[in-house]
Amino acid sequence: MNVLDWAKRKKDGKPITMVTCYDAWSAKILNQTQIDTLLIGDSVAMVMYGHNDTLAADVPMMARHTEAVKRGAPLKFLVADMPFLSFRKGLPVAMDAVEALMRAGAHAVKLEGVNGHEEIISHIVASGIPVMGHLGLTPQSIHQLGGFKVQGRKAQNRELILEQAKRLEDLGVFSLVLECVDEETAKLVTESLEIPTIGIGAGNVTDGQVLVLQDLLGANTDFHPKFVRRYMGMNQMMADAVNEFCEDVQKRDFPSREESYL
Ligand code: KIV
Repeated sequence: MNVLDWAKRKKDGKPITMVTCYDAWSAKILNQTQIDTLLIGDSVAMVMYGHNDTLAADVPMMARHTEAVKRGAPLKFLVADMPFLSFRKGLPVAMDAVEALMRAGAHAVKLEGVNGHEEIISHIVASGIPVMGHLGLTPQSIHQLGGFKVQGRKAQNRELILEQAKRLEDLGVFSLVLECVDEETAKLVTESLEIPTIGIGAGNVTDGQVLVLQDLLGANTDFHPKFVRRYMGMNQMMADAVNEFCEDVQKRDFPSREESYL
């Protein structure tokens, strides 16, 4: 998949798939799957570093994880998140961040919102770098939004999201993540744009879907919003495997003679 395929997929009505990925180990596995795109999301700060929100992610963190994913998944289209405030401190700072992520191996960058950074988005696009937008629940604004809440339910809010989405399209973004918006808003935005929308908690009306890999795998048991479908119980499977190892060691059943250098 390359950036030109995104619009085509919307036109053909073939949903686009994306999952987050932060490390070479899981990237290597995902590289062998049908997944279209890997997102080095700033959720890395929560999932991999245990923070309560994404504000702790910074450019060196995002670049380091992008490099790791690139090593593991050289065949996949990689989108890297522009972290908290990295595009709010003026053009040179934003372009240094973009440069770090692109040199780390990303094919595109994603950034949240639009108000006040239109010029930066335009400049990134004009520099030949694909930009993915992100509206609805924008976790970098969590303190202003007052928590992880569904967005767009009120007509006024819905119109605001639609207006911002159209503005992002006009600025040249190639796709748009819609996070935690009601289905009606997601449908309205999706039908109003030429570019594809990728939903997370936005119902089954967007042009594609994204999930955090650890949520999909059931590795994260303390987070279960209704929009997450768990495809396996990795948390339990991993704990069981490690407990089995411990029991085998205690019983002196591991290592066996076959597993030893004699
Ligand atoms: O960082 C992330 O995981 C994201 C997804 C929620 C789209 O931005």
